[in-house]
Amino acid sequence: MLKEKSLLICRFELRLGRVEDANFPSNHFNVVVSALTVGHIIELGSVIREVSRIIKSGGSLIVSDIHPYWPISGHDYVEFFDGSGQEYRIPEYAHLFEEYWNLFRRFKFSVEDVKEPRIDDKLIERFPGLIKYKDMPLAFILKARKEQCALCLQE
Ligand SMILES: C[S@@+](CC[C@H](N)C(=O)[O-])C[C@H]1O[C@@H](n2cnc3c(N)ncnc32)[C@H](O)[C@@H]1O
Repeated sequence: MLKEKSLLICRFELRLGRVEDANFPSNHFNVVVSALTVGHIIELGSVIREVSRIIKSGGSLIVSDIHPYWPISGHDYVEFFDGSGQEYRIPEYAHLFEEYWNLFRRFKFSVEDVKEPRIDDKLIERFPGLIKYKDMPLAFILKARKEQCALCLQE
């Protein structure tokens, strides 16, 4: 006899749009996660402003991306190929941590954690071509929390 199994049901909705003008209500999300995207957007301020609007007071923002070292040192685009082999390039902009820091202060986020993983022996074992970049920072991960404020808590 089959036993009833408990299922974890995740409900989600996919939406296509620009993060700078995300069409979500204000104070909507507990957590906002961005991976490998913000570096493609020239104006970081418009991203942090919009995230600040849609995230709840006390909510977490996690941003990870290619480290700004790469676009600064000339690797300033990412290339993609479609099924026919046609190449596409998306520009990669360098947003330094100073820029993030100033925007986080302006839009009332406090930084909780920063990681800058480097190209180490383990990664080089998997991707030997990276040996010439040994010890360079590969990526960064920032965790910030939208500050609680008396006014926000009343909303
Ligand atoms: C390198 S892919 C990363 C995709 C995915 N986040 C991942 O980690 O696999 C970069 C993504 O950034 C998206 N992107 C570029 N500019 C954007 C913008 N202004 N708003 C939202 N997404 C954008 C592109 O459509 C693309 O899907």
